[in-house]
Amino acid sequence: MLRDPSTKYRAFPPVPLTNRQWPSRTLTRAPIWCSVDLRDGNQALAVPMNVSQKLELFDALVRCGFKEIEVGFPSASNTEFAFNRRLIEDQRIPGDVTIQCLVQAREDLIDRTFESLAGARRVIIHLYNAVSPAQRRVVFGLEPSGIIELAVRGARWIKDRVPALEAGGTEVVLQYSPESFSLAEVEFSRDISEAVMDVWQPTPERKMILNLPDTVEIAGPNVYADQIEWMVTRIRNRESLVISLHTHNDRGTGTAATELGLLAGADRVEGTLFGNGERTGNLDVINVAMNLYMQGIDPKLDFSDLNGLREIYERCTGMSVPPRHPYAGELVFTAFSGSHQDAIKKGLNEWAKGGRSHWDVPYLAIDPADLGREYREVIRVNSQSGKGGVAYLLESEFGIELPKELQREFGPLANDEVDRLGREVSAAELKAMFWNEYIDRATPCALHHFHADGVDGLFRCRASVILHGHERKIGGEGNGPIAAFAAALIHDAGLPAFEVVAFKQQSLSAGTEASALSFIQIRLTDGRQAWGAGVDTNIELASIKAVISAVNRAAVPRPDAPPPAGSPDRPPLTP
Ligand code: KIV
Ligand code: ZN
Repeated sequence: MLRDPSTKYRAFPPVPLTNRQWPSRTLTRAPIWCSVDLRDGNQALAVPMNVSQKLELFDALVRCGFKEIEVGFPSASNTEFAFNRRLIEDQRIPGDVTIQCLVQAREDLIDRTFESLAGARRVIIHLYNAVSPAQRRVVFGLEPSGIIELAVRGARWIKDRVPALEAGGTEVVLQYSPESFSLAEVEFSRDISEAVMDVWQPTPERKMILNLPDTVEIAGPNVYADQIEWMVTRIRNRESLVISLHTHNDRGTGTAATELGLLAGADRVEGTLFGNGERTGNLDVINVAMNLYMQGIDPKLDFSDLNGLREIYERCTGMSVPPRHPYAGELVFTAFSGSHQDAIKKGLNEWAKGGRSHWDVPYLAIDPADLGREYREVIRVNSQSGKGGVAYLLESEFGIELPKELQREFGPLANDEVDRLGREVSAAELKAMFWNEYIDRATPCALHHFHADGVDGLFRCRASVILHGHERKIGGEGNGPIAAFAAALIHDAGLPAFEVVAFKQQSLSAGTEASALSFIQIRLTDGRQAWGAGVDTNIELASIKAVISAVNRAAVPRPDAPPPAGSPDRPPLTP
């Protein structure tokens, strides 16, 4: 890079616009949308789509609600021509959808374009030529007047051929793009556009589309907005024009440029799904549409199955959507940070309870469900996650409702393990960690047999346990089976005295089998506390197993476990 970039680059000159209005306006409605996926996007693929891929993507665009779709450049290749014929002859274009075709100002190309459109119900014929000083100089080698003549010639060739197409029953709309509009002097763009208008003679009843492309984005979005407002307020016969925007994303501000261009007075937007297109791509239409949606404005496009749309797009184009791509990326409704997860969980719970009129969930700009994405995608767990994320995943994926205090105990244990693995873990792996830490604890004490009877509130139990590898028959009394078993463990098996301080039970269904899941917290006489958990199809046995789990966890750490609770390396089991 240069130490002084000003020796090579210069700022784009400001647009001569005073009293600009766009900064104080607000967007209130959706523009007319035109998809250019099948042309601008397709042209930018290493391997362009074949006819069947284009058909699949065309159908998907129709399902999204696009009413104008640029289907190609039929004079450029046989595939493009064949695609038009297939759409028209197989009657695949719905009655409310207009197809659009691009063509340069060359008579043979214009002829072929008209030929490809015979029999269509309604078409947009899109003429373009470049207008920037660099292209005038290096591509055409023409003065501005020569470029205007070229555009006018092209406009005439098109105008001459319209009646024949109309005679066959096709309604024709005309569109002109001064390509590289944003790089040209606004006065020249106006002059050449007015020269084309003089040929086509649009009226308020029969408008033409004037598309003003940001072909290569080299200035800020505010400059593009100024250029649009300048044109909209100065061009002759504005009421006979549909002003259209077509932005690219070289500076990463294609979305901003489009939104500001709409504020500046444009009516229509061209773009592609997921921003496919030359270099950094075209405007991502989904982005602007969903930005409107999350402001409460009907975007008039439907992206309620965004994952499905993404699959079609990736299959047809061979491109992939980056994981952090707005709205569509795999990770955009995912929080890794513990505090974010906690806030999201609370926000989603509040929303699920109802009672709030408008979406206001921390860290989620939009409800993922509106895009066909699920809440369970929201939280994944890595070493940065907290107890909230861990608890949320166990509950949403497996219906395991950890008591709050147990969440506080298990969260850090799970995080230690995730840290050790050094990667994100799945919900199934988290469940396995929970089972390993709580449910499958069979040392030093394992349950072999348990039976309890109660009379008048007094329960007696008989049990056998394997303690340090030896079977012990034990018995005890208490005001319930758990209390009777605790007494048996303390008095007959000689375990350190403890009391049960918390107990929670839930049912758990896995497949066709319903089972009970019990959580028990015990406190030893030295003050240490530990949680245990047990699962069994028998509700009483689930609780007894939870007592064993708690006792084992409080007694001795597993040989493969981290340092014992209370050691300097690991927080005590006591909160
Ligand atoms: O980016 C562009 O300028 C274009 C035109 C052909 C509209 O794609
Ligand atoms: Zn383009």
